[in-house]
Amino acid sequence: MKELKPEILRSFRMEMIGTGCYDAMARRYEASRPELSKRFRAMADSERGHGALFQKCHAGLYGSKMSGESFWLFMGKLSALSQALLPLKMNLKILSGVEKLAVKQIEAALAAGGNSKFHDILKNILPDEKEHAALYNDWVSGKV
Ligand SMILES: [Fe+2]
Ligand SMILES: [Fe+2]
Repeated sequence: MKELKPEILRSFRMEMIGTGCYDAMARRYEASRPELSKRFRAMADSERGHGALFQKCHAGLYGSKMSGESFWLFMGKLSALSQALLPLKMNLKILSGVEKLAVKQIEAALAAGGNSKFHDILKNILPDEKEHAALYNDWVSGKV
């Protein structure tokens, strides 16, 4: 695996971007599609929890918290905004694509081996990321 510290930082950023994005999506569909909004709310909470795990991991290994949380949350909100004009179906497909990529990256990191608190977290969050990646299929098949 690549050096651990930048990987933890990169993971934390992605979780915060996801949190900001899904928070915004949950708000957008609160009135018009409450079920979808609930799913986004759950995804936002899930990513927030993942971010907290990486934050704790960083503090444990290096004695400090990572900064930039509000900036990356804001970037997530911006990414949701930038997709607002797309048809919902395409929007969901893009989001599921990003989550599928996250699943692939986590699987690759775990396959490369290594033993650290960071790897423990990756193992723990993998099922959640797979569930996030299923959003598009769940929506197309009428489960959301
Ligand atoms: Fe996550
Ligand atoms: Fe995710």
